[in-house]
Amino acid sequence: MSKPKVLVARAIFPSVLERLSQHFDIETNQADEVWPKEELARRMSDKVGAFTTSSERIDAAVLDACPQLKIVANMAVGYNNFDVDAMSARGVLATNAPDVLTETTADFGFALLMATARRVTESEHYLRAGKWTKWNYEMFSGSDVHGATLGILGMGRIGQGIAKRGAHGFGMNVIYHNRSRLEPGLEAACKARYVSKEELLRTSDHLVLVLPYSASSHHAIGAAELAQMKPTANLINIARGGIVDDAALAVALRNRQIAAAGLDVFEGEPAVHPGLLTVPNVVLTPHIASASVPTRLAMGNLAADNLIGYLVNGKPLTPLNPEILKK
Ligand code: GLV
Repeated sequence: MSKPKVLVARAIFPSVLERLSQHFDIETNQADEVWPKEELARRMSDKVGAFTTSSERIDAAVLDACPQLKIVANMAVGYNNFDVDAMSARGVLATNAPDVLTETTADFGFALLMATARRVTESEHYLRAGKWTKWNYEMFSGSDVHGATLGILGMGRIGQGIAKRGAHGFGMNVIYHNRSRLEPGLEAACKARYVSKEELLRTSDHLVLVLPYSASSHHAIGAAELAQMKPTANLINIARGGIVDDAALAVALRNRQIAAAGLDVFEGEPAVHPGLLTVPNVVLTPHIASASVPTRLAMGNLAADNLIGYLVNGKPLTPLNPEILKK
């Protein structure tokens, strides 16, 4: 019997490909080309399953070109690259890769916060450029992390991981804002206090964004919100590009309206707003918050488990539109 056909849209760990090839006839992309949408649709048109990353947009036009498609498994917890309604309408299962990346991503949120507050990359560039000829009492002075007020916008699993690190590791005063308030047990575990978005903006020394991207979170931090923040505040975005208005942020950083920012995600990435590339008070990383070797492997294996679980056993692990399983 021939095996079901599956497209693996980007390069992935050989061990994950090996697992997939035991069950499926796979078309791979180990050259890691980023296919234009039409090419992705053409390659997916005879497949029943696809393995994607957050770079592949799965929308109605792509789906209409792929009548045999039953599942798309995203190797990411965020899934704003999926039009889940369009997938559900066509009976295509969507899966993401939650949980396995929570702690690693929270670690990175803290790494970016620390690097931003203590001007780690800015001072390294100075040193590498041979500019360090003498020590000075105020060189690269930044802001303190311990004991400061840590604000978190979006309090899902990753937000809670950051809150715990801040409260328990650094004695920070943790406040958060979220669509819904955490139940008291979780709030206590995170030592976090629920506040309005206005209070969060006004009082955070370090504000970390960890909310999902959607039409309602588009530019959740724009010029008006930046204007409410302290001039000494740091803004950290490990959520998604588009949540921050990057053009407005570049202006706020240049004018020192806020002290600094740490950004792992960008509007229109991998392009980065040119205004961000020329200001010194920003730490920039290329969407690597979940990038530890074990976690990226776990994410790849979870996406593969979803494909195997659904196409071979009828039981996906982390479906986003489970209602289609009942049909
Ligand atoms: C990474 O950004 C993810 O959503 O997993």
